[in-house]
Amino acid sequence: MRSATLVCIVLAFATGTANGKAALSIVVYGATGDVGTHIVQEALNRGHQFTAVSRRPEQVEMQHDRLSIVKGDLLDRASVAGTVSNKDVVIVSVRGVIGDSGTPESALQFLAAEILVDVLSQLGDPAPRLLHVGGSGSLEVEPGVRYAAKLPKVFIPKGLEVEILGQILALEFYRKVDDVQWTYVTPPKNFTNGPRTGVFRIGGDQALEDKRGRTRLSRADFAVALIDEAEQAQHVRQRISVAY
Ligand SMILES: NC(=O)c1ccc[n+]([C@@H]2O[C@H](COP(=O)([O-])OP(=O)(O)OC[C@H]3O[C@@H](n4cnc5c(N)ncnc54)[C@H](OP(=O)(O)O)[C@@H]3O)[C@@H](O)[C@H]2O)c1
Repeated sequence: MRSATLVCIVLAFATGTANGKAALSIVVYGATGDVGTHIVQEALNRGHQFTAVSRRPEQVEMQHDRLSIVKGDLLDRASVAGTVSNKDVVIVSVRGVIGDSGTPESALQFLAAEILVDVLSQLGDPAPRLLHVGGSGSLEVEPGVRYAAKLPKVFIPKGLEVEILGQILALEFYRKVDDVQWTYVTPPKNFTNGPRTGVFRIGGDQALEDKRGRTRLSRADFAVALIDEAEQAQHVRQRISVAY
């Protein structure tokens, strides 16, 4: 065997994942969050290289030889551009409301979509794919009726309402984007701390209900679906939903 071939085989083995696929370089905004911590764990367990971004990286306790922790803020366009270049996949799983306008445009989820699409479209062909963790308020519970319209507004804090509407706005924004490889991955309304089962269904715009009319999923299983999409790119420029 020629030595160049041997080097290639050794390199491929060294960068491979548990399921034999090439390891991806994944960056996550929101790695310290309730959902993000499951995403980090799932990606590391599968052998990927991971960059966790936090505004306060000193607070991140996770350690792993394939995990880099970097300081970054999604609202800082220059830092975003530096962080996402040369990566395979960017995942955004953040929450927040910026300012006090009370409009959906002030939801961090919408602002993140705008900033990341701008940065990625400027990177052109080598740009990473973008996976956006969406909101269940955007799912249809009846033909033409979103879950957000069914929520009892009096019981919902204003900030959460802004985020729910901001997530819908983000989805509408992505649907007009044709020069970035985005996927909007939506959890169901009941997002639990249950175990990782690896068994779930993938749907589209309609909320997926189980036989008992429940629409639910553990964060651990959501992370499985998200990293499946990172590896397989089966739903580029689509919104998908995940539930049992
Ligand atoms: N049923 C549902 O539909 C449902 C339920 C829950 C969550 N979600 C969605 O899941 C996603 C994650 O939610 P979560 O519950 O995991 O949120 P979380 O626990 O509140 O975490 C929020 C994350 O946002 C990050 N963040 C905030 N501002 C940032 C900024 N300016 N730049 C970079 N990062 C920033 C924080 O990172 P640092 O503080 O480390 O910087 C933190 O990791 C959101 O999109 C949310 O809408 C959906």
